[in-house]
Amino acid sequence: MKRKIAVAAGLTLVALALLSTRFYLVDLRVWHFFGGGESLDPATLHLRGEFVESNLGAAQQPSGTLTVRMIAQQFVFVPRCIEVPAGVPVTFRITSADAVHMLSFMGTSYGLKAVPGEVTQATFTFAKPGEFKIPCHEFCGAGHYAMRGQLDVIPQNQFASLLPGERRTCESH
Ligand code: CUA
Repeated sequence: MKRKIAVAAGLTLVALALLSTRFYLVDLRVWHFFGGGESLDPATLHLRGEFVESNLGAAQQPSGTLTVRMIAQQFVFVPRCIEVPAGVPVTFRITSADAVHMLSFMGTSYGLKAVPGEVTQATFTFAKPGEFKIPCHEFCGAGHYAMRGQLDVIPQNQFASLLPGERRTCESH
């Protein structure tokens, strides 16, 4: 009898351990079922919707504000380098294609978490021009320590306004 209980307890522990490694997937389904958050399928990010490759980078919204869309994935940020003007509020929208990642803009107090299945949004203003490294600050696998992107903040008068369909990265000019 005692042996059976021990085996049952052991199996329960294994099941819990397996579940905990996948918890965000279970968690998100429940969360989205009840209408929470912006639902995204990490597996089809590149194929359709807001985060297709041609829509990544800086974009001018109809209201004139600037939005930067990015994907974090093992072990790169896409686009690798983004360019924004100084002294202007920039809204970041980011998601992950796999694990949880954490962007931090080195030399600033700004950071953003990238979670699979969700869009994280935050608005930052970079006061002065400069180059900021974007290391990943959440352990996300074997390549975590080499995962980094870059943000180039350029003077506002050098950042020409974007056409409606135009997306800007460091490589666009
Ligand atoms: Cu991505 Cu650590």
